[in-house]
Amino acid sequence: MTSDLSPIDKAKLAAASRAADLVEPGMKVGLGTGSTAAWLVHALGERVRDEGLRITAVPTSTRTAELARAAGIEVLGLDALRWLDLTIDGADEFDGQLNLIKGGGGALLHEKVVATASDRMVVIADASKQVETLGAFPLPVEVIPFGWQTTKTLVEEVLIGLDVLGRNAVLRMNGDAPFVTDEGNHILDLHLHRIGQPRQLSLVLNQIPGVVENGLFIDICDAVVIGYGDGRVELRDITAGTVEKARVALPERDNIFGDVSD
Ligand code: 5RP
Repeated sequence: MTSDLSPIDKAKLAAASRAADLVEPGMKVGLGTGSTAAWLVHALGERVRDEGLRITAVPTSTRTAELARAAGIEVLGLDALRWLDLTIDGADEFDGQLNLIKGGGGALLHEKVVATASDRMVVIADASKQVETLGAFPLPVEVIPFGWQTTKTLVEEVLIGLDVLGRNAVLRMNGDAPFVTDEGNHILDLHLHRIGQPRQLSLVLNQIPGVVENGLFIDICDAVVIGYGDGRVELRDITAGTVEKARVALPERDNIFGDVSD
């Protein structure tokens, strides 16, 4: 039952439920990765089942692809669809301009490609993800395995000249082994504490040989749906310049989305 959910999970569910209503019949939709995106997949699955909603979806990770198929959503690769109407995804942080840090779940590369290939990107998040300045959350950077230690040194060196408060880069682990992304790469988590100039940092990081992509999403996100534990949601659209406040009825049912995991 939703009463078993933590306030954060209820907030994620509320944001995901509101965002699921943005999806229209026939749309080509990018599906993000993470626990909030998992709620979205379930909410869309309900619409597919209950309303006969027909959509085609491009998942941003193998995990999301499995969830989407299980929810009865038609899944295709990005090359089959080429361009999408809408991508809905979670985020680790967002600021007032809707610049994002993403990649906490390790899917930043596919997430950035899919979001960029969409007419519109909407982030779904609980209110704790909103920040004044990006950087408290460690910035994920995807690097190729070959020479990753050299890449790490180069990353730490370029950070010296940039507007950040920390420079520690940590190889993400999965147990005793380095974490491996869907593209077979590794992730460096940069403990920067404060990112003064995210656009500049993103450009500089992507110039370093061995870096595939970084988790800063600049000028990609159009709107955010912020969820609260009591079911309130706020849809802030910076492209349209609108703010909509509403309340989502959180369903009271056994087993509701009980298998959602990050
Ligand atoms: C995965 C991501 C996620 O969107 C981000 O980590 C947020 O996850 P969650 O919704 O579980 O808090 O970027 O790569």
